[in-house]
Amino acid sequence: MSGTFYSDLLATARSLTEGECHTGANLANLAALLGQSLADINWAGFYLMDGGMLVLGPFWGRPACIRIPLERGVCGAAARTGKVQRVADVHAFPGHIACDGASRSEIVLPIRQNGRVAAVLDIDSPSLDRFSPQDEAGLLQLTGLLEALDWGRTGYTLC
Ligand code: SME
Repeated sequence: MSGTFYSDLLATARSLTEGECHTGANLANLAALLGQSLADINWAGFYLMDGGMLVLGPFWGRPACIRIPLERGVCGAAARTGKVQRVADVHAFPGHIACDGASRSEIVLPIRQNGRVAAVLDIDSPSLDRFSPQDEAGLLQLTGLLEALDWGRTGYTLC
């Protein structure tokens, strides 16, 4: 990964979302961007808070589990605690949900709107310990970009 990988990714993400208020379109393009840009991953996408649980949103990769209760999975833990979950070995994570048996490590970042978790960004890798603190820092900038957008006109429920 080059030293400018995440600043380049962020610049592309900014240009893709600039002036666009539709969150569904923005999340779809960012999932595609992550899927095309990050090496050694098998899934990248978003789960949205809806009715007190997480529901599958725009993603890149194979079809995935549709609904995740907050008490389950790495995604549920991120949404429930509001904290980034960087999991080196998903098999060692209690309650991990294996949407794709090939996944070995995972990172999930909460995304807030109006002070509450509105969605999570979830990225899976077929390699153990794929996500470094540098990945976490770079991806936090991306979720920060999404948090700065106004999701108000999208129809997505904010829980
Ligand atoms: N592994 C996740 C479920 C979602 S899939 O990885 C796409 C979890 O444990 O929450």
